[in-house]
Amino acid sequence: MNKSAKYKAVNLQLSGLMDRDVHWIANAANFCSLFADHFDFFWIGFYYKIDPSYLELGPFQGPAACTKIHKGKGVCGHVWQEGKAQIVPNVHRFPGHIACNEESKSEIVLPVFSNKKFWGVLDVDSQYFSYFDNEDLVGLQKALATFEKILS
Ligand code: SME
Repeated sequence: MNKSAKYKAVNLQLSGLMDRDVHWIANAANFCSLFADHFDFFWIGFYYKIDPSYLELGPFQGPAACTKIHKGKGVCGHVWQEGKAQIVPNVHRFPGHIACNEESKSEIVLPVFSNKKFWGVLDVDSQYFSYFDNEDLVGLQKALATFEKILS
């Protein structure tokens, strides 16, 4: 199965899995589990805005990670500041990248919104350089549109 077909299949499953009747933490946990099961990601997880100045680690799959990211810091903090997704082919070349784990070589970070207001980010890391492309962006954006429905 090629990557876009895989995103299509996983996104279909995700629509059935997201449940309005439970806390977002339960949904975010299942979101990460589903993607970790079907994709070869090193790390996938949420950082959510708990304070006007920083994001806190939410549900994730993968090794233990940094717990706080300040606005403007690292890729996640940059995405918060800019309000748009970012693909980083080589994390070593991203000024201020926060190295939670040195295995991580490339990443994609997307903003998450609740009622059109910034809520947090989805951070996906790979142990390979240049792992993420536009198909990942489109597939993950679709997944977040499903997740955002349970936030509003
Ligand atoms: N890569 C992030 C830090 C979080 S970890 O990768 C899980 C960043 O620079 O924002």
